[in-house]
Amino acid sequence: MARDKVIEARKVKYRYPDGTVGIEKVDLELCRGEKVAIIGPNGSGKSTLLELLGGLIEPTEGYVKFFANESIDHYEIRRRVGVLLQNSDDVLFNPTVREDLEFGPAQLQIPKEEFDKTLEDISQLLDLKSYLNKPPFRLSEGQKQRAAFGSVLALKPEVLLLDEPFSSVDIETKQSMIKHLNGLNEEGVTIVVTAHDLTTVPLIADRVYLLNKSVMAEGSTRDILTDLELLKNNSLDIPPLVELGIRLGINSVPLTVDEAVERLRKEFDKS
Ligand SMILES: Nc1ncnc2c1ncn2[C@@H]1O[C@H](COP(=O)(O)OP(=O)(O)O)[C@@H](O)[C@H]1O
Ligand SMILES: [Mg+2]
Repeated sequence: MARDKVIEARKVKYRYPDGTVGIEKVDLELCRGEKVAIIGPNGSGKSTLLELLGGLIEPTEGYVKFFANESIDHYEIRRRVGVLLQNSDDVLFNPTVREDLEFGPAQLQIPKEEFDKTLEDISQLLDLKSYLNKPPFRLSEGQKQRAAFGSVLALKPEVLLLDEPFSSVDIETKQSMIKHLNGLNEEGVTIVVTAHDLTTVPLIADRVYLLNKSVMAEGSTRDILTDLELLKNNSLDIPPLVELGIRLGINSVPLTVDEAVERLRKEFDKS
């Protein structure tokens, strides 16, 4: 069976109005149900690419195709592709957090009664209950990021594009977000996250694109995250567990703490 492409970018270039090239010659393909990370150092074009993949901006050259459909309109893209921008202030613009969460579903004319249960679930998941009636500008960065994430989940999109979604949340929220995202993925939601800190990548992605204006490498999370030369050449920090595994000479380097525990137990048992 042919793979069901949800978003496809071909030879994409984006030049900002001041002449800065955000990205160029980017080819990328996302299939339904995938979990993909786009990694790269600061200024490598991750946010630019995510906005292009979300249809928020249009390529200067090349094209981005959604759901293998040439004639899809913006309204349908908005309904089916949820984008969490890096700057939460760009997403939260209503007088209260509750109104921000209700905004998208109201635009799409989802009946309020139908949405109330979703709102309850999202507030519970992201621990937003005590902030619902507050103006977003009164929230801390982490609280804003959770509220912004909630407003994207509220639309129940089939594709989630998340720009550095864990950058300012605490460890507990990060863990519950990761668990929730993996749960959504099991239900078929396609997930893309960008990251310059690679430690969470193995927990949320099976496949990785390394971006540095263009795609420098693409492959399994394991292949990319254990290629020290590639990471170094692109100014990315080697994840501590990978470095530990390589320096200890462990077969099949661990990418997550769970894997590290399992591998180290085996090594100890040998000796
Ligand atoms: N609004 C803008 N106007 C001009 N240049 C921009 C703008 N936004 C980003 N850039 C430039 O585009 C390049 C890619 O930026 P960005 O996509 O934000 O990278 P990343 O998200 O990987 O840090 C950088 O050189 C950045 O300075
Ligand atoms: Mg960015």
